[in-house]
Parts: sequence; C-alpha cells; structure tokens
Amino acid sequence: MTRTPLIAGNWKMNKTHLEAQALVEDLNDALTDHDFDAVDVAVLPPFVDIRTVQTVLDAAKSSIGLGAQDISQHESGAYTGEVSAAMLKALNVTFAAIGHSERRQYHGEDEAITNAKVKAALGAGITPILCVGEPLEVRQAGTHVQHTLDQVRGGLEGLSGDQVADTVIAYEPVWAIGTGEVATPEDAQEVCGAIRGLLSDLHGDDVASRVRVLYGGSVKSSNVADIMAKDDIDGALVGGASLKADEFAALAGNA
Ligand code: G3P
Repeated sequence: MTRTPLIAGNWKMNKTHLEAQALVEDLNDALTDHDFDAVDVAVLPPFVDIRTVQTVLDAAKSSIGLGAQDISQHESGAYTGEVSAAMLKALNVTFAAIGHSERRQYHGEDEAITNAKVKAALGAGITPILCVGEPLEVRQAGTHVQHTLDQVRGGLEGLSGDQVADTVIAYEPVWAIGTGEVATPEDAQEVCGAIRGLLSDLHGDDVASRVRVLYGGSVKSSNVADIMAKDDIDGALVGGASLKADEFAALAGNA
C-alpha cells in the first residue's frame, strides 16, 4: 500500500491573524512548484488564525491542507474556551492534532481524553493526528516503545479498522521537541515500526498499511530526507521550522 507522505506544520502559539496571513501567503508562493500528489502539506495555525488562513487558501485555490492544534471532545455547550469539531469542519479544517505532548503536560490530557477527541474528529470527518511519544526519563529507562504503544492503544480504543485507517499517528519524543536534538532515523524507525506492528496486530496488515505514521521533534529541511527514508515513517509534524515559509517549503521539497 502506497501512503502519500504528509508534512504538517504545527505553528503552536505563534502568529497573530495578520502574521498568519503573511506566512501562509509566503508559503503558498514558496510551494508554487511543489508536487502535492507526491507529498501532502498542511498547516496547523492557532484557532484565532484558522478563518484567516482558510480565506487565503481558498482565494489561492491552494492545495495546502488546513488543520487545528486541538479539538474538543464535546459536541457543543458549556465548555468555555473549547472549539468543537463542527466549528472546525465549517472552516474546512481537515486535520486535528490530538494529544500533543504540550497538551498532555500542561492540560493533563490522558488516553481517555485523546480517545474521545479522536472519535469527535472522526465523527465530523476530520482526520485525527494522534500525537504520542516518551519523555526523556522513559527513553533513558528503555521503556519508550511500550510507553508509546500504550498511548496509541488508548487513543485508538474502540475504533473500527476503517476508522483507524483514517487516522494519522505522530511519534514525537518529548526530548526532541524544540531542543534541536532530533532523533536518529534508526531511533525514529524503531518506534514508528512498533506502532505499525501494533496496528497490524490490532486491525490487520491492510489497515496498518493505510495509516500514515509521522515523526516529529526538531525536523528541519536538512534532516527530513534521512528520517523519511525509513520504511515506517510517512512524514513529519514540524514545529519551529514551519514558522519560516522558505524553510518549511524546502523541508516539504526534501521529504
Ligand atoms: O508538533 C510538532 C512539534 O512538537 C515539533 O516541534 O519545534 O521540535 O519541530 P519542533
């Protein structure tokens, strides 16, 4: 099964809506010659920027995908500060990052919450990007594979095979996020391969072959090719390098 690679830029809490407009306009220009049939590209702006970015992408008839950095597990109602799947769908959002380590760290998101968010996203026809990965102390203890698989298993609990096939998994070792300490391609493959193996055990080889497994953590245009050369890595979830249009476009071109 051929999986189209995905390069997704997680802008995190950066860019006002005016700065976001400028960044996505520059990125669209920088990707003029990009082959979107070969590599999908998406951006995940802050919530307050999504409408602006959507407007730019629509006007340019751009092939750049639009995602959110989080999503509520609730349908609607008294959930102050949250943003529902329906609200995001109305803005043509097609991806939602779920369970990013920064959400787990600062907002106490556990597998029950990530699982509910995955189901809410799928229910609205939004592709979940389930973020998993170990902190440094777990890596040092040598239990990083089991730790990450437990997060995958919990996040996908109760889903059908077809629903799992519609998800994206992003392996982001916490010790590599924002540190410049990119995982070696071999370290990334070890865990991404184990994720693929778990999906195969749970849902069969066909479903496992359809899931895109990304790596995230200090990915740059200079290191993405070696990481993407690994069999079970289908793209990258990019933080810092996605905030510069030329760097992100070069990274997507090297994927
Ligand atoms: O979600 C992607 C992010 O966590 C990676 O950040 O800055 O290490 O590319 P960065």
